[in-house]
Parts: sequence; C-alpha cells; structure tokens
Amino acid sequence: MPVSSGIVHRYVPGEATADAVSATQELVATGRRVTLDFLGEDTTDAAQAAATTQAYVDLLDGLSAHGLAHGAEVSVKLSAVGQALGADGEELALANARTICAAARELGTTVTLDMEDHTTTDRTLDTLRTLRVDYPETGAVLQAYLHRTEQDCRDLAHEGSRVRLCKGAYDEPERVAFQDRHEVSLSYVRCLKVLMGGAGYPMVASHDPQLVQIAGALASRFGRTPDSYEYQMLYGIRPAEQQRLADAGETVRVYVPYGVQWYGYLMRRLAERPSNLTFFARSLITK
Ligand code: FDA
Repeated sequence: MPVSSGIVHRYVPGEATADAVSATQELVATGRRVTLDFLGEDTTDAAQAAATTQAYVDLLDGLSAHGLAHGAEVSVKLSAVGQALGADGEELALANARTICAAARELGTTVTLDMEDHTTTDRTLDTLRTLRVDYPETGAVLQAYLHRTEQDCRDLAHEGSRVRLCKGAYDEPERVAFQDRHEVSLSYVRCLKVLMGGAGYPMVASHDPQLVQIAGALASRFGRTPDSYEYQMLYGIRPAEQQRLADAGETVRVYVPYGVQWYGYLMRRLAERPSNLTFFARSLITK
C-alpha cells in the first residue's frame, strides 16, 4: 500500500525528506510549530542506525534551507539510532544522538528523545542526562501511564528542562502501568501539576479535550504565559483543535512522522481509534 493512500496520508505526510519539509512549511504557515520523526524503529544493525542518523542531518539541512529551523525541531527514538543493538547499543545510540543534537544546535533548534516501552525508560533517561551535559536543550518524553512517572516529572521539572508529557502508547503490564483509562488520565493530571508548577518547559502532548482544558487551567493557576509551555498533537489528529489553540495565541506543535517505515506508527494510531480501521480496510481494498 502506498503512503499516498487516504488513511496513511492522513497520519504520515510522506516518505521523503522533501515531504517532511513541505508538511512543515504548510503547518508553520498556519502558526503551528513542528517536531519531526523519521520513522525507523526496526533498526537491526549499525549501518541502519547510521543511515537514520544521516536522515535526521539531511532533514535538518532541508529545514534550514527553507528557513524553517526556528519553527521545527526533531524527535528521535533511541532504538532507531542503535539502542537495541546488543552490548554496544547504548554507546552507539548516544553517539548518533550526539550527532543529531550537534546538527540541530548548529541550526538553532532542538532534539527531543521519544520514549519507548518501559524496559527502555531508565536507559533513555540516562542517555538524556548524558546528552544534556553538552546539549542542555534536549527534551524528554514521559508517559503518564507508568507508575514511576510522577517521580520522573519531579526529577525533570527543573530550569531549562523540556518535558513532553503523553499518556503512553505501548502495551504495558499491570506491574508497571495503570491499565484503566481514567487512572491514566488522573496520573496525567498529577504529572502535569508537577510540571506546570515546576521551573521547566512543559509540553502537553494529548488530544484529550479534558486534558487540554485542564492544562489551560493549570497554566493560568501557575501564572504561565503561552511562551512558557506548549500543546502538542500528532499530525492528522484533531487539526481543527490544533488551529483553534494556535489562533487563540497558544504555542502549538505538531508531531510529524515521515519515512518508509510508517507501518508500525500507523498501527499504533489505528489501535487508539478502532473506528479508523474501517477506513484502513477500505483503502487496502481500493488501492
Ligand atoms: P486519547 O487516546 O484518549 O484520545 C483523546 C481524543 O483524541 C479521542 O477521543 C479522539 O477525539 C482523539 N484521538 C486520539 N487518537 C486518535 C486517532 N488515532 N485518530 C483520531 N482521533 C484520535 N507515546 C509514547 O509512548 N511515546 C512517545 O514518545 C510519544 N510521543 C508523542 C508525542 C506527541 C506530540 C503526542 C501527541 C503523542 C505521543 N505519544 C507518545 C502517543 C501518546 O502516548 C498517546 O498514545 C496518544 O497521544 C493518544 O493519547 P491521547 O492523550 O491523545 O488521548
């Protein structure tokens, strides 16, 4: 199935750097900011990790060439740059992440490390700490469904720290994660209170209307101005709400995934929204 199929195209603007750059151009023109994710989760060797790293460097160059480096940053999964490659994986991922951070810094923008399943949380936060020694602008993602996250928020709610708070997208065991949707939302609010009340830069990554509203109320309660936190949503999800917030003067960033490995990403989005499966099935038949 090509990326141009309706349901794929709704969530992933394309496979090439040029597609990512033009989607960024369109979003920035509407007053939204962007973070770009080169989809490459199934990295099975060092050469592939290097190719993914180079894809980010090329992307950053492309953004800069179009004057977009201010409105756009990049999001990186450590598994895509080598974390899962055995004993040396951690070091390889760190070295590749450094290369991307250096390229981003040169262009005046930033990197945020995505968070994957709970077996990687400690290692990803360790890598973040190491990267932040030289690149303190590097952002983290925390997942409200994990029991540990409220404490992680406390640890990361300091000056200069950028934290993207999301609910969490992986199928996690009861031992480590809240299973009930309501409990996840309650945890999200507790975590957001810590971040909004702290000295860092909270990034409210959710499409949940109730959480968006609570985030606004917390921002007011803690006297935050729209340049001291931001809302973030995924490309193709609630675009009208993204625009409404941006038009109201809020800082809004859209997470734009692109690249040939869009299948796993798309499956996670469809799992969150089973009604989309009908559209997906139809596009499989007609394309
Ligand atoms: P929820 O899933 O409850 O959705 C709330 C409402 O949003 C729905 O009622 C519907 O209106 C709309 N909606 C949600 N999903 C939709 C869909 N697929 N299609 C259409 N409408 C939909 N996760 C992770 O584990 N690690 C990470 O690094 C990241 N990174 C990340 C960055 C950003 C910017 C965002 C927004 C999200 C992530 N996520 C993530 C994903 C996140 O953990 C979570 O799975 C999704 O955001 C869905 O959760 P919501 O908070 O949106 O609520």
